[in-house]
Amino acid sequence: MAGLFVTATDTEVGKTVVAGAVAAGLRARGLSVGVMKPLASGGVVDAAGYLAAEDAVFLMRAAGVPEIERPLVNPVCLAPALTPAVAAAESGVTIEMAAVTAAYRRLAARYRLMVVEGVGGMAAPLWEDYLVADLAGAIGLPLLVVARPNLGTINHTVLTVDYARRRGLTVAGVVLNCWDEARAGVLERSNAAYIERLTAVPVLGRLPRSAAVSVPAGRTEGLAAMAEKYLDLDAIFKVMEGNRHERC
Ligand SMILES: Nc1ncnc2c1ncn2[C@@H]1O[C@H](COP(=O)(O)OP(=O)(O)OP(=O)(O)O)[C@@H](O)[C@H]1O
Ligand SMILES: [Mg+2]
Repeated sequence: MAGLFVTATDTEVGKTVVAGAVAAGLRARGLSVGVMKPLASGGVVDAAGYLAAEDAVFLMRAAGVPEIERPLVNPVCLAPALTPAVAAAESGVTIEMAAVTAAYRRLAARYRLMVVEGVGGMAAPLWEDYLVADLAGAIGLPLLVVARPNLGTINHTVLTVDYARRRGLTVAGVVLNCWDEARAGVLERSNAAYIERLTAVPVLGRLPRSAAVSVPAGRTEGLAAMAEKYLDLDAIFKVMEGNRHERC
């Protein structure tokens, strides 16, 4: 199956924005792109009275996926803003990971490319001792790691890539989010260089902060243009397509 699993060095680093940008950019190139947020916590009750995940709503807007697909895009949505394993236990909910991966396969059969957003970082517990790394392995897509550009990011990114590899996963690239080109100095530039040198993973984008984009507000304006300008979409597309025959 062809696509990308978007993870990060931590929660709130920009997985949803980067995943949305990749989806919007590829869609703008005329490609059929599906999205998924397999598990979400911190869900909010929407206007229709349903518990909704902001990440799923944002990703669907970015990719132009219709609202009717939401149960497959986001099969598990929990109210407590806790890691899903704990949010589920607190809510008295049992998470069936087989049902989550089945939803992925149904979606993947409908779209040429899939962009799947993880939860937190690679070792976040999803259900009991089943971690994000286990889900990434079950889904079988290469990883894109979203990282911060600032101090501490070399350590977080190297640990994330090393852990993913030890779990048998392929890391295709790193994207530095909230990159400020005008202000980037020796710290930010050396971070990017060190990440490439220590991980042997290419930095496939430096995405700036955009006032027009907001996950909580569901604002995706300009994402496709940002993806074209600041991400190496050609390389990202190649990675996604390159996975097509690896696993079905
Ligand atoms: N490039 C950007 N431009 C504008 N806002 C951004 C950008 N990147 C992140 N944000 C904002 O920062 C917050 C965190 O980003 P995001 O939701 O993408 O992180 P995440 O890694 O997906 O978090 P989670 O672990 O909760 O899923 C959001 O409110 C989002 O709107
Ligand atoms: Mg997110």
